[in-house]
Amino acid sequence: MSPRGGWVARPAAASTPTRKLASDLLDLSEEQREIRNLAREFAQREIAPFISEWDENAHFEPSLVRKMGELGFLGMLIPEEYDGLGVDTPTYLIALEEIAVVDASAAVMMSVHNSLPTQMILRFGSDEQRERFLRPMARGELLGAFALSEPEAGSDAAALVTQAVLDGDTWVLNGTKSWVTSGSHAGVVLAMARTDLPEDRKGARGIGTFIVTPDLPGFHVGKKEDKLGLRSSPTVQLTFDGLRVPAANLLGEPSEGFIYAMQSLENGRLGIAAQAVGIARAALEAATAYAAGRSQFGTPIKDFQAIQFKLADMATRIAASRTLLHAAARAKDRGENVKQATSMAKLFASETAMFATNQAVQIFGGYGYVKDYPVERLFRDAKVTEIYEGTSEIQRIVIARELYASD
Ligand code: CAA
Repeated sequence: MSPRGGWVARPAAASTPTRKLASDLLDLSEEQREIRNLAREFAQREIAPFISEWDENAHFEPSLVRKMGELGFLGMLIPEEYDGLGVDTPTYLIALEEIAVVDASAAVMMSVHNSLPTQMILRFGSDEQRERFLRPMARGELLGAFALSEPEAGSDAAALVTQAVLDGDTWVLNGTKSWVTSGSHAGVVLAMARTDLPEDRKGARGIGTFIVTPDLPGFHVGKKEDKLGLRSSPTVQLTFDGLRVPAANLLGEPSEGFIYAMQSLENGRLGIAAQAVGIARAALEAATAYAAGRSQFGTPIKDFQAIQFKLADMATRIAASRTLLHAAARAKDRGENVKQATSMAKLFASETAMFATNQAVQIFGGYGYVKDYPVERLFRDAKVTEIYEGTSEIQRIVIARELYASD
């Protein structure tokens, strides 16, 4: 880990930290090893050299989409018949973790695209929609976004008020969507809007999902958020001002859009858990290297128990998060009900990311608080994993409700 520069001497990290960092208890197949190595090399080559600059300037690098698309990273869960890689969920999460170790911003772009809009079209879309949207999305020619939240509908997602009214063979949408990851660069946005009318509200069963493209009249990109972390992932508001969406772009049934969104968030939450594991691992790797190179009281600080206990707790929670995540992913691929398991994985991994990055800043001391080292960025990036795709409080609600569920 080398400092970014500056004239003041900075402690150097040891060049060979530990051997056990990658211990993850996963029994990787040959294909999984290859994909992991590909993702690791890609992230080191194409992202790592620029990460401080992109973070500082809140710069989203559009060429990443093309490059990740060429390698198949934007079509990982899409079958080969639609130009995807068609790998299983654990393999996708292994690649996602590797990207997140280097850049949590690129990881959320990859996670949202692979887990939400593409999966929604694959599962609930028509053949025509798959041909038209899924195929270019799998190749990374169209980036996907997911627009559920609104200014007054965050955790209470079913309270959304964006209205869709059918006018002949066109749906007319009016409203504002918030916190849309990649929304300013997306070629396809899966947007939820009410299809029930104000005088006949049907709650969660009165919402449709629409395939929206930015060329449609009435589509506007609004405020770009100035965020604490994930600064090179653009998060925007989208305004639909009489947005005219062809009826052929309605996904599935007009009353079932919320259910589709909830089912897809189960995939999304696995992706965010993998992102969180990646952030936490980056913090552990940085802290381990630093602790080996930094001496105080005439001793490398890695030899103090106060530091060892922190590193041990970080490593243990990361291994536990990854194990829970991959158990949930395997259960999902077996077709089991994973509502609770995905929430557990997301909850535990995101709180681990926050814990590990906090400990890493503490191990670095004052140097952890400045931008010469990576851990302050990791600390900032970690926080949102406890917020988006369902806060930790919402995950606990889902987990607790499932304890009483009958199916
Ligand atoms: N699978 C299938 N159906 C589901 C489901 C799931 N996982 N979760 C809920 N449903 C169904 C319920 O069975 C229910 O159906 P019925 O009408 O047949 O009973 C319906 O959806 C409504 O569910 P609830 O009664 O549980 O609804 P609720 O309003 O009480 O609570 C909630 C639901 C769990 C709190 C939900 O609103 C939620 O998850 N909130 C968090 C929202 C969220 O995660 N937002 C993230 C936005 S994306 C993002 O972060 C940005 C980004 O780009 C990264």
